[in-house]
Amino acid sequence: MERPVATRARRLLWRPDVSAVAVYPGSFDPITNGHVDIIRRSLQVFERVIVAVLSNANKDSSWFTPEERVAMIRETFRAEGDRVVADAFSGLLVDYAVEKGAKVIVRGLRAVADFEYEFQMTMMNRHLKPRVETVFMMTGESHFYTSSRLVKEVVSLGGNVAGLLPDNVVPRLIARAKQLRAGA
Ligand code: PNS
Repeated sequence: MERPVATRARRLLWRPDVSAVAVYPGSFDPITNGHVDIIRRSLQVFERVIVAVLSNANKDSSWFTPEERVAMIRETFRAEGDRVVADAFSGLLVDYAVEKGAKVIVRGLRAVADFEYEFQMTMMNRHLKPRVETVFMMTGESHFYTSSRLVKEVVSLGGNVAGLLPDNVVPRLIARAKQLRAGA
């Protein structure tokens, strides 16, 4: 029979395999206030958040290069110093997370519609690396309808996107829409 003192001692020694670093991956083409909301929420839980921009050479529908997207994220979070790191990655997300010493992947959830896609990705990532855990943050309700795809559509049709994106991103998006309209 186990002695209570030994059990207590073991409990004190045991530490979960926790990490203070989380990876928040995405396309971020461009970063929206919905993403900003998730990053700010993550900073309340994690010491450092690596915002990992997917650098996908085959995805030529992107408006911004990975470098431009990373630069916009860095500008947005300049005040947070090294607690928010923006970086581009290619290959498997779980490999990138392990390489960076992160055991947690953060994803944002808006509506039920996000669930199916997120569920599939989480299960695949868990299959690939069971020790990397995905956690979900619910966006603030004012961001439920915001997506990079929709803001690009709105701005390309001349609509107002102020308030949906960080202030530094709005003029860049408008300028890029103009360039694309002009066929540049
Ligand atoms: O913002 P998005 O476009 O919904 O983000 C999707 C992203 C970047 C998280 C996802 O495409 C991804 O993790 N790509 C890396 C490739 C990978 O690891 N695929 C297998 C896991 S589903």
